[in-house]
Amino acid sequence: MEITLNNIRLDVGGVLPFVSNDELETVKGPAVKAYNELMNVAGAGSEFLGWLDLPSDVSKKQIEEIAETAGKLRRRSDVIIVVGIGGSYLGARAVIEALQDSFKFLHKKKRRFPQVIFAGQNIGEDYHAELLAALDKLKYSVIVISKSGTTTEPAIAFRLLRAHLENKVGKGVVASRIVAITDSSKGALKKLADREGYKTFVIPGDVGGRFSVLSPVGLLPIACAGFDIRKLVKGTEEMETALKGHGGLDDNPAVLYAAVRNLLYAKGKSVEMLASFHPSLFYFIEWWKQLFGESEGKEGKGIFPAGAVYSTDLHSLGQFVQEGTRNLFETFLWVENPKKKIVIPTDGDNDDELNYIAGKSLNYVNEKAMLGTLKAHTEGGVPCAKITVPELNEKNLGALVYFFEFACAVSAYMLGVNPFNQPGVEAYKKNMFELLGK
Ligand code: PA5
Repeated sequence: MEITLNNIRLDVGGVLPFVSNDELETVKGPAVKAYNELMNVAGAGSEFLGWLDLPSDVSKKQIEEIAETAGKLRRRSDVIIVVGIGGSYLGARAVIEALQDSFKFLHKKKRRFPQVIFAGQNIGEDYHAELLAALDKLKYSVIVISKSGTTTEPAIAFRLLRAHLENKVGKGVVASRIVAITDSSKGALKKLADREGYKTFVIPGDVGGRFSVLSPVGLLPIACAGFDIRKLVKGTEEMETALKGHGGLDDNPAVLYAAVRNLLYAKGKSVEMLASFHPSLFYFIEWWKQLFGESEGKEGKGIFPAGAVYSTDLHSLGQFVQEGTRNLFETFLWVENPKKKIVIPTDGDNDDELNYIAGKSLNYVNEKAMLGTLKAHTEGGVPCAKITVPELNEKNLGALVYFFEFACAVSAYMLGVNPFNQPGVEAYKKNMFELLGK
């Protein structure tokens, strides 16, 4: 059983041995109800549905302004530091790392820069000390992102970077090297940006952090890394039209994915592993983990979102997935065509006994590893779904981001929780502030 919509194909063939047709029938009604709740702005947290129309709402003018700002930062900088945490960080990193050359940092100076790097997602002293030391010798700019404008981790990193930059370039120049992305009117960051005269972009009030990739939060860093945000928005816009135009289990892959997840959850599968065979998708998986984890994990409910990059993790987690506690299901995220091609050479001695695959591309072997794993895990009692995209480019990544956002909202409504709040995140902050004597 599979559905293809635009460039995304969902195949749930590897789930079917674990669920009966009757069981699939039982989730149809709740899935369509959840879809309708979303479309009719009738579900919990419906004041945060701005992301649903974000692709079609991003105006040409706004894209040009973002692209122009990115161009200026790129010309002025060897390094652009994006300061943010959670939804103000992971989406941009996911797209950039999926698209960029993994070994860019090893290239000659000209091709290596500008680099987009990240800070404020941790309070590691070594991390920030080493970053500041490296920046001593580099020309850099800072994009600081916080919707609330008050999150401690990015606020600390930004304070350090601002002081470092002021020292380096002087107070007069510093404002031309800083861009702030925050709320239109409230929060400490907004106040600071207005006072210091930073260029600012607004995070729409009705768009939550983890659903904000298609706002300036994701688009500016992605453009700074040199990628085409017009193509990204186009891919998303086409996915928006497609998903809004189909509401059933048999024609909307996001609804089918949400339905299958909830069905498996009801049958005791409380952990979902998003597994890719493409190391550049590591941060995409991290973004997905936050999207589903923060949206669904509440009120004692939710599927725990875990991630793996194979083959690496086949040699660490693979044993557990194959034979450990049977509370797992997997979703494979497969990319059909790599950006580049490498063929395995023939070797006269054949000491490594690899000549049987000489002349084959690495992707050919990687695909066999994926198919072999899918079969092994299914036979080992792990239901496996598969999502396939033809290649990693701006358009397909945009489509994939929107697909998962849409599926997440439908899935959370099926589960009976509000996908758009995160009350549990406050607990650690309260204790930390108490311990810090705030
Ligand atoms: O998805 C979310 O809303 C969160 O992950 C936030 O993005 C994260 O906590 C950072 O918040 P802020 O952008 O207000 O600094």
